Order: sequence, then structure tokens, then C-alpha cells
Amino acid sequence: MITVFGLLGSPSAELRASAAAADWVVGGRRHLDALAVPDARRITLGALRLAIAQIAALPPTSAVTVVASGDPLFFGVVRSLRAAGLQPRVVTAPSSIAAAFAAVGVPWDDAVVVSAHGRPLGRGLNLARAYPKVAVFTSAENGVRELAAGLAGLSRRFVLAERLGEDDERVLILDASQALTVEPREPNVVLIVTPSTLDDDPPWAAVQAAPDRADRPQVAAAAAVAFVRMLPEPGDLVWVTGPLADELAALADWAGAAVTTVASGEPDLILTDDLRNLSGRSPRCVVLTTPHPDPLPAGYRWSAESIGDHHLTTGVRA
Ligand SMILES: C[S@@+](CC[C@H](N)C(=O)[O-])C[C@H]1O[C@@H](n2cnc3c(N)ncnc32)[C@H](O)[C@@H]1O
Repeated sequence: MITVFGLLGSPSAELRASAAAADWVVGGRRHLDALAVPDARRITLGALRLAIAQIAALPPTSAVTVVASGDPLFFGVVRSLRAAGLQPRVVTAPSSIAAAFAAVGVPWDDAVVVSAHGRPLGRGLNLARAYPKVAVFTSAENGVRELAAGLAGLSRRFVLAERLGEDDERVLILDASQALTVEPREPNVVLIVTPSTLDDDPPWAAVQAAPDRADRPQVAAAAAVAFVRMLPEPGDLVWVTGPLADELAALADWAGAAVTTVASGEPDLILTDDLRNLSGRSPRCVVLTTPHPDPLPAGYRWSAESIGDHHLTTGVRA
């Protein structure tokens, strides 16, 4: 039997009893130390894949206790265990994201949650550009300072919630310049919010439970076609310039993509990209509204069409 316990703060009596009785206890060193698990019964988490292979190879009669931070069903270990064909019992705990919002008393049913734990920051930054309330699982390399640097010029507050549930828990509300220079303690999560978000709650949008009756952007046919060729999604960054820029920006914003307006120039192009490619070297999609270069850059699936007065040349990265 495998039992996964979430843990934020002090271990419960149930977790202590389970760890004491288990043949194997799996977790980070910090958690195993807190439970005083002897070396002989430890599987210490470094690479998750190795630990899961070890668990999968144990006799089915083994009693295994897995300790995971926060809610193990939310950006947690249970997904990987199930992917390996294992079906653990789960005793959950509050997620660190829930605890961070609780620390500032702000509802989070309308928050966007993204992980930069072992992943590039680009999509998290784009989400924070597009949405007023974004929660980020961080790592030592991708933390509050890198987030603040990537969002320079944008009006945002940063809630840095460190070591939640621990004796030395600390929660700071920082402006952009403070966020750039703070010395964060690990582990932590960061909430990135517009300044009003900490004080005012918009009505719950209920997007999945009820239709959103807000007006949609109304655009010319050429902009509609260009948008459909790109189909940007939350986490993408859309650059816009040229005659369709405002209409494309409105559509991209509606889709939850971040938008950067580039001063009009040569050529009039519209592209989506992620932040790593801000130089424009490998955009995912390009729409050219002026005569296109010949030959067109390799690595894209190109299509050409005339819509009204616009000749659109659209390239989607192959
Ligand atoms: C793999 S994710 C697991 C998240 C977990 N399932 C949850 O619901 O909190 C690990 C990340 O969770 C966050 N985290 C875990 N424990 C934390 C704590 N006590 N205080 C603040 N953040 C924590 C950190 O951002 C860390 O990099």
C-alpha cells in the first residue's frame, strides 16, 4: 500500500504514525529529517523519476509512505505515481498557493497558477502580463527577482511567501524595485497581482459555470483571419505592429495572451512568440501584411491569402 501525505508545516500525528510503521518513507531530505526516518528506510527525493522507479519495483505488500509538500494532487507527485501505474491513497494538505493567498486574505478562485519549478519562466511572465492575479511555484533559479526583472515597466505587486507553515515563515508584499533586490528564502511561492487586486475583489467571473456576456472585440475580416492563423493561447506573447495591430492586440488579449505593441516599421508584421525569443529569431507564428520577403524564412508552414485590402502571408512554425 502506498500512501501519499501532503505536508505544509508540522507533520500530523497520522503522518508520524504512518512514517513510523512504513517499510519505506519517500520524501525530500527536509521532510524525512522532520519525521526522523532512519537511513535504512529512506528513499530520498532528488530525481523524481528514479524514486518512482524504486517505488514501482518494491513488492506490492510493502508499506510505503510518501511525503510531499502542500497538496500532492496539485502540481504534485500523485500525477507521476499514477503515470507509473501506481494508485496511492492520498491524505491531502493545503497547497502552498492556498496558504500564500490565505496569508494576505485574498480569494484565489480567479487566480492563474503556473509552475516555474524546473521550467523556463517565459510562459509565467506572459501570464503575469495578461492576467491580474497569477501565482507562481518558484525555484532558486526562477524566483521573485527574475519575475520582477521580466516584468519591468508593468504595474504589479509581488507577494513573496516563504517557508509557509514553518517556524520561520515570512510573507512580504513588495513593489517592483523591492522584488528585484530581496533575498528570498527557499521554498517560496510568488503571487503577482495588479495593485488593486490586494484591496478590491471583482465579482467571481464563473467562466466555466456561466456564459461570459461581455462584449467581444469586433474586428475587420483580415484581422479575424490573421488571428485564426495564429490562435494564441494563455502563456503566449503576441507582438503586433502594422495596420491590423490594434485589432489583433484586442483579440490576443481576449484569448489571454500577452501583447506587446512594436513601433510600426519595416516590415509590417505580426508575430507570436514567447519571451525567450524576444529578438524575433524563432517566432511561433508570423503574419506579414506587406509584400513578403522572397524567399520566405525556412522552418515555417506558410500560407498566403488576400482579405479585403490586406495581403496576409502567415507562417506557423513547423
Ligand atoms: C513541486 S512544487 C509542489 C507544490 C505542492 N504540491 C503544493 O501544492 O504546494 C514545489 C514548489 O512548491 C512551493 N512550496 C512547497 N513548499 C512550500 C512552502 N512550505 N512554502 C512556500 N512554498 C512552498 C515552492 O514554490 C516549491 O518550489
